[in-house]
Amino acid sequence: MNHDQGVISRYRDHLPVSDATPIISLNEGSTPLVHAPTLSEKVGRGCQVYVKYEGLNPTGSFKDRGMTMAMSKAAEQGAKAVICASTGNTSAAAAAYAARARMDCVVLLPAGKIAKGKLAQALVYGAKVVEIDGNFDDALRLVREIGALDQFEVVNSINPFRIEGQKTASFEIVDVLGKAPEVHILPVGNAGNITAYWKGYCEYRDRGQCQSRPKMLGFQAEGAAPLVRGAPVEHPETVATAIRIGNPASWDGAMNAIRESEGHLDMVTDDEILEAQRWLASHEGLFVEPASAASIAGLMKSLDPSRRHAENPMASIAPESTIVCTVTGHGLKDSDIILKAAFPMFKAKTDKEDVLHQLGF
Ligand code: F0G
Repeated sequence: MNHDQGVISRYRDHLPVSDATPIISLNEGSTPLVHAPTLSEKVGRGCQVYVKYEGLNPTGSFKDRGMTMAMSKAAEQGAKAVICASTGNTSAAAAAYAARARMDCVVLLPAGKIAKGKLAQALVYGAKVVEIDGNFDDALRLVREIGALDQFEVVNSINPFRIEGQKTASFEIVDVLGKAPEVHILPVGNAGNITAYWKGYCEYRDRGQCQSRPKMLGFQAEGAAPLVRGAPVEHPETVATAIRIGNPASWDGAMNAIRESEGHLDMVTDDEILEAQRWLASHEGLFVEPASAASIAGLMKSLDPSRRHAENPMASIAPESTIVCTVTGHGLKDSDIILKAAFPMFKAKTDKEDVLHQLGF
């Protein structure tokens, strides 16, 4: 049996690997592209919406695609240890793949701003976790400084192999749809993923695997929207901790994707994010973390009839368009955010009558 079934083995012709590259993989990728019938109805005009459910990767987020590449190349180069800054998911993926590669892993996290599930992952996979008294941008600056010392391979998306791995999500979407979608919607934080998706679509088009490329729509959280505002945000704040980033490393890559694809960047409020998260779970059966729901919130915002003006990217979308929303991480990583909200529950004694009575039957 072929033990390598992850994105490198599936797309090795499109990736900078050779026979000398040891493949460090957890069979990432091949995530479902789930049709969303209720969301499609909401969009209307015969458009079909699909959700790329990246929470079903081995560590529960899209980061695994980039990490298999970054870690395989680090192993090829003989690295003994890796380091990254993270809002949580990158650290979980780095820790898991480093365990697999038998390398040490150091992760720098903004103290108190990481969803518990992600912190648990970094710890259980055996990373050395350093909580920084600062935000993600501070942690990434430290990683750049420590990375320059040569003891560590940096596995943030400033490592170009991360982007290479992450572009495979676009390949999968085209392979499943048999074409590129007309619109692709993503949450944007450090901006590596939107850069990677665009690279993937461009390369697939250039190789004749698809004829067109989608408009790329990126959504940031309102309190952490440097790309939308056109300047770094010193104190980013959002309930979507994964995208609580004020100075994205792939700034130029994101702007290039938006410009070349004639796409659009916008922001959504924390309330819109949480509402979209609950809506997607309770209407489509897909539980994603808040940052991931920014793409759904963005789509919903674009549908608002009061926004039917020219700069609304959805206003000019042709009928029967195919729209793909990437939802980047699994909802279970941050169950606290749900349990903090006042969802109604019932209490009952251990008898049938009382259960039915409490339910109002
Ligand atoms: N969604 C989730 C769930 C994320 O974890 C991230 C980034 C993003 C979206 C944004 O992707 O940074 O490529 O624009 N998380 C990073 C981390 C920063 O450290 O886990 P991006």
